[in-house]
Amino acid sequence: MPDDVADEILGPGADGEGTSASWSASSWRRRAAAQQPQWPDEEELKHAVSTLAALPPLVIASETRSLTAALAAVARGEAFLLQAGDCAESFREFGADHIRDKLKVVLQMAVTLTYAAGVPVVKVGRIAGQFAKPRTAAVERVGDLELEAFRGHMVNDEAFDVQARRPDPARLVSAYHQAAATLNLLRAFTKGGFADLSHVHKWNQEFVASSSEGRRYERIAKEIDRALRFMAACGIDLQSEESLHETDFWTSHEALILHYEEALTRQDSLTGDWVDTSGHLLWVGERTRQPDGAHVEFLSGVINPVAVKLGPTVTPDEVAVLCARLDPERTPGRLTLITRMGAGSVADALPPLVERVREAGHPVVWACDPMHGNTFTSEGGRKTRRLGDIVSELREWFGVHRELGSWPGGVHVELTGDDVTECLGGAEEIMEGDLAQRYTTACDPRLNARQSLDLAFDVAELLRG
Ligand code: PEP
Ligand code: CO
Repeated sequence: MPDDVADEILGPGADGEGTSASWSASSWRRRAAAQQPQWPDEEELKHAVSTLAALPPLVIASETRSLTAALAAVARGEAFLLQAGDCAESFREFGADHIRDKLKVVLQMAVTLTYAAGVPVVKVGRIAGQFAKPRTAAVERVGDLELEAFRGHMVNDEAFDVQARRPDPARLVSAYHQAAATLNLLRAFTKGGFADLSHVHKWNQEFVASSSEGRRYERIAKEIDRALRFMAACGIDLQSEESLHETDFWTSHEALILHYEEALTRQDSLTGDWVDTSGHLLWVGERTRQPDGAHVEFLSGVINPVAVKLGPTVTPDEVAVLCARLDPERTPGRLTLITRMGAGSVADALPPLVERVREAGHPVVWACDPMHGNTFTSEGGRKTRRLGDIVSELREWFGVHRELGSWPGGVHVELTGDDVTECLGGAEEIMEGDLAQRYTTACDPRLNARQSLDLAFDVAELLRG
């Protein structure tokens, strides 16, 4: 990166390339940290942080290295990334059924993509840590009352009263325990038989199976059955083929509340590497990706694979600085760039970024978040998104990558396994008037299981090119 670019964006004297010499798990505290709650009681915060620091890691260093290796295959154009889950996990909407149903949808989407497009899929959940939200406004006003914005259950509660909105550090510890329980069940499901390819039919939930998307999925599931029977008839010992019986499912969240991330950052005793053990992959959002800010400083020093969200106003220079800060060694799989431009903006905004990153020699994964650039408020006052806009953004995004010869590496979506009515459109044609029926998200509108499957068929077609 040219020095003048680094100076302009980071300010003179800031570290342009990679981890600063003085990096530590707490060095982010010397930088401006956007989107942090105003914790009202310093002692409470210290207590929560020291409690977290004494708890066992949720993930370990070797797992994060395995995910980096899997993402390196994506960067080479040999695999596809599916990153999906809640906008914000909820302390209330928590339980085995929710976790299982979300996993079912992701497994269905992954098998659809693998079968229809012939590429291996790296499955990463927005799960087991996705409890905090950046907000456009720091406060919310109703009548004469002004309160701290709802920042996710890791920080406060959405009810509009003084007590509920008070940032409570004990919630950091509750988030850890919910993440641990969620991860435990995910590991059991994905390694203990539930993800076995002979169960593809069981991932089709009843309300999905009776729909046109569900029937389309059933046809794929039947063909997979036939392929498995064929292989067995040829004398292949399917029982000993581990990859048919279990799968890897990785966790990810936005590394937003830095006290939580710091407290769970540990040094690998074998290598001395620093690992953020709160999840496998961490990302910085559109509102916290300042190259000289606290979030980028924090992620620059941990070995986890990391990602950055890029909105329509980002410049090629900014992206070059972010790449230099977060991927100085140019390690395949280390850095994923998730663009979220909005339908209609991709053809102009994306090519200069791809070209700049290519010039700088960073082997990044390019992923598309077609959700966050397409959010609007419906007439009834609910935040929503149209499936049509989501597919349009994806189509434009694939088009740019095809044109430039870069690999369209993945999609990043907000979904739930539940039968909600939060996004418009899809085969069931959810209309604005239907939104109120089953609108349960703690933050942004999510695709329901049918819409998610619908989207997987579209992405598979785009991938096949
Ligand atoms: C999100 O992923 O929920 C989010 C807030 O995204 P972005 O940072 O891209 O706005
Ligand atoms: Co969101």
